[in-house]
Amino acid sequence: MAEPEWLTRLYDMNRRAEAGGGEERVNAQHKKGKLTARERIERLLDPGTFQELDKFVAHRATGFGMEKNTALGDGVVTGYGRVNGRLTYLFAHDFTVLGGSLGETFGKKIVKVMDLALRNGAPVVGLNDSGGARIQEGVVSLAAYTEIFFRNTLASGVVPQISVIAGPSAGGTVYSPALTDVVIMVKGISNMFITGPDVVKAALGQDVTLEELGGSAVHTKKSGVAHFMAEDEAESFRLVRRLLTYLPQNNSELPPHIEPRDSPSRTDAWLRGAAPSDPYDVRAVVRNVVDDGEFLEFHAEWAQNICVGLARLDGYSTGIVANQPLYLSGALDIDSSDKAARFVRFCDAFNIPIVTLVDVPGYMPGVELEHGGIIRHGAKLLYAYCESTVPKVTVITRKAYGGAYCAMGSKYGRADLNFAWPTAEIAVMGPEAAVNIIFRKEIEKAEDKAKETERLLADYREKMANPYVAAGRGIVDEVIDPAETRPKLIAALSSLRNKSEFRPSKKHGNIPL
Ligand code: HXC
Repeated sequence: MAEPEWLTRLYDMNRRAEAGGGEERVNAQHKKGKLTARERIERLLDPGTFQELDKFVAHRATGFGMEKNTALGDGVVTGYGRVNGRLTYLFAHDFTVLGGSLGETFGKKIVKVMDLALRNGAPVVGLNDSGGARIQEGVVSLAAYTEIFFRNTLASGVVPQISVIAGPSAGGTVYSPALTDVVIMVKGISNMFITGPDVVKAALGQDVTLEELGGSAVHTKKSGVAHFMAEDEAESFRLVRRLLTYLPQNNSELPPHIEPRDSPSRTDAWLRGAAPSDPYDVRAVVRNVVDDGEFLEFHAEWAQNICVGLARLDGYSTGIVANQPLYLSGALDIDSSDKAARFVRFCDAFNIPIVTLVDVPGYMPGVELEHGGIIRHGAKLLYAYCESTVPKVTVITRKAYGGAYCAMGSKYGRADLNFAWPTAEIAVMGPEAAVNIIFRKEIEKAEDKAKETERLLADYREKMANPYVAAGRGIVDEVIDPAETRPKLIAALSSLRNKSEFRPSKKHGNIPL
């Protein structure tokens, strides 16, 4: 039987929509080392699960030669599918149509999937590859962006939002990813910038390449805009899939439990030597403690004096926040406070318990830091811990000094259970600084200044710089053998599984941004 005309028409329409900007532009996309929007979706989702929406939507703009552009889909592919069997909404910019630039109908398509994701409580993944606001559509394009930013804000803390940057992300296209929970940039093909090199040259006379201005190295190492740099697109999709395994579908659910190969009672004597060996890599401690040594570190190359990421303990998704003695001795500065504060709030929003490993000599001193607003930024971390209500367990491994002690998941910042290794030193400041302040006159008067300083230091360490003063007051709940950190954390988190804790109701707080 001959194919009915209506079926032929449907096939034709589908073929037209799937052609995007046409063969030549698809080839150009491949030549730039980039996959097309549809190839990306196919690789990201579970095979055969993509359900496309608004495939035949076309732009409605006139003027500036827009009548000539008859592509169906209007430069963005949208819909839903499954990631590891779980419902996920997504959109993928199609750079082959008008450079993936965003106009009225393009914006409406994205808003539709975001609204569906919110109503149905499922994550949104955005695959970005766009020249920004569609210049030919003027203010309509700016309005469309703002509708998206509004949805990003509504969805923030309700459903996970993940952005992959797999091409240019110019002008308006940066702010939607910036409002999402996680930004992944693909090495070599992605950049994010508000104003391009031409504008920078015209305004400031500076010559700068796109890569230097906003390439993946810039945003994963310097600005902190992006959380991950993927080696290639395939890795970026693997990362999205892995990341989603740690997250709930929405803020009213718990993250999935994934059976570990590791034993919950595993102890490790290696940890006994970890903290006293200075400097040590805290990531080795984290990997040692968590299930199967698997740790998904966020912002691994930015603000490295603090280390944050997701892992599992006895199969339960857990956020890790740990000072990193390898960088700046683990002291807190502006960027590390911002990094950790944002991560704590991310975990709190999505019902992920937080384990904090403390080894911090304090907040960083210095004119530059004070003038840069370390007070304002440091306060964010205090705020984030104090407002969070997920289960929180803290282990002080070595130094916990001053305001940084208070900020890093301390007892009265409302961590539920606080442990210390026997190597912990908890005090207002380190012994050297403390002795020089409180015994300055005595040291000056002493015949043998060095000997007197040594005696006072030993006395201070004995009285203050150990965990037993804190444990004697109940500020530390237990001093533990480092080898037992994993089973202790698992038992603690298990006891907190049904925790419920309330804060006064309010419109929202006023975190010092
Ligand atoms: C309309 C655009 C476009 C845009 C690119 N194109 N950006 N069309 N509006 N914003 C078109 C190009 O004209 C070209 O069409 C096609 O897309 C491919 O672009 P190329 O330049 O050939 O590609 P490439 O060399 O890879 O460079 C990509 C690029 C560059 C780096 C993104 O196109 C670029 O710099 N675009 C402008 C970026 C920008 O400044 N955007 C900000 C807009 S203002 P043809 O037909 O010639 O092949 C903004 C403010 C919003 O977004 C604020 C909201 C808060």
